[in-house]
Amino acid sequence: MKSEGEYNKLSSPEVIQFIEDQLTTPIPELVLKGSPFPSIPINLLVNQVVGKNKARKKLPTWHKNPKIIYPPKLNLEQTSSEITARHKSKLIEGDTLIDLTGGFGVDDYFFSKQVNSLTYCEYNSDLFEISKYNFNVLSVKNIKCLNQDSIELLKESTHKYDWIYVDPSRRNKNQKVFLIKDSLPNLLEHQKLLENKSQQMMIKTSPMYDIEAGYKELSGVKELHVVSIKNEVKELLWIIDWRTTSSRNIKLYNYDSQKKYTKNVLQHDGLISSDKVGLSPCLKYIYEFNSSIMKSGLYDRLAIRYGLLKLEQNTNLFTCETLIKSFPGKIYKMNTIETINFKKLKREFKGRFINIISKNIKLTPSNLEKKIGFKTGTDTDYLIFAKTIEGNKVIKATKL
Ligand SMILES: C[S@@+](CC[C@H](N)C(=O)[O-])C[C@H]1O[C@@H](n2cnc3c(N)ncnc32)[C@H](O)[C@@H]1O
Repeated sequence: MKSEGEYNKLSSPEVIQFIEDQLTTPIPELVLKGSPFPSIPINLLVNQVVGKNKARKKLPTWHKNPKIIYPPKLNLEQTSSEITARHKSKLIEGDTLIDLTGGFGVDDYFFSKQVNSLTYCEYNSDLFEISKYNFNVLSVKNIKCLNQDSIELLKESTHKYDWIYVDPSRRNKNQKVFLIKDSLPNLLEHQKLLENKSQQMMIKTSPMYDIEAGYKELSGVKELHVVSIKNEVKELLWIIDWRTTSSRNIKLYNYDSQKKYTKNVLQHDGLISSDKVGLSPCLKYIYEFNSSIMKSGLYDRLAIRYGLLKLEQNTNLFTCETLIKSFPGKIYKMNTIETINFKKLKREFKGRFINIISKNIKLTPSNLEKKIGFKTGTDTDYLIFAKTIEGNKVIKATKL
């Protein structure tokens, strides 16, 4: 376990300058060179270099502060990004919050601006020391840091918190996991305890976690947020209010930058199959929903709302004659549509740069790349291979 004294050494001006100078040095080379500072082991300098590079985009507030201490890469990978942490903090209001899985403290830094008093709990001593030090460096005054098992702490506590937050560890015995029952702590074993010790709770789960499983396993779900960044689902956030009965309110977000996002709100009552979207041959525009919407499973319902038709029941591409600029996802303009003829496609596209989409047909984009011999690239030219109601087709399209 490192101490405050060791972290102070890492934030001295000459060490900060050394780290700054090494940001582009390959890590094996840095390890081989060794530490120029007798009292600082090289692995701590490596953590700082790796951490700073990673924080540039993921954690801009941390990156700006030269005194921040970074944990090993594995712990850093498990932290929330600043965009998603800010998102979560906007959902919190109240007097007290306890985070049962403090980690690198990214979520707590933003939560601390929303509540009067926050308890950070983390059983890994190194992470605990680092986060405690960093909260100080970031001038946060209302976080109490505890280095212990948070479930044991809750069992012994007589306090009822306004909020419990949990971002369970998705590493268990060195295996990557994504189910709640396999993550640490296993919240399913402690639902009664959690209910007794909080008014509301927020659970972050992996994007791979099945939404239907969540509704079955968790009680009191008030809202589900599916949060994507640049069209990649990053987090499922389960907002639980023990005082209300479960409801299937889903909010879908896709962030482009810290402040810019698209949002869709849907009421999901589990009767998705009763909403039958119409089918149609490919029309002038093709629409592909963003990843949060696809994850929610509510794309057909939303397509009806936008007046779209589907190319085939199991082909998740939608179409219509008009351009809907506010569509949450990608829009393509159809140029031509043909039956797939690989000889002809090879003659036309071999060696050319093009983007590929493959939907509901057996060939993956890399199979197609090998078969036709094109190169992937360009901003706007697409070949869309898809099963349509008129059979398997290739659509030449332009991304708008
Ligand atoms: C995914 S990380 C949390 C990351 C954090 N939200 C952040 O943004 O930096 C999960 C953390 O929970 C800790 N943890 C798991 N079970 C715990 C328990 N019962 N008590 C305290 N900490 C626990 C792990 O050591 C790990 O650091």
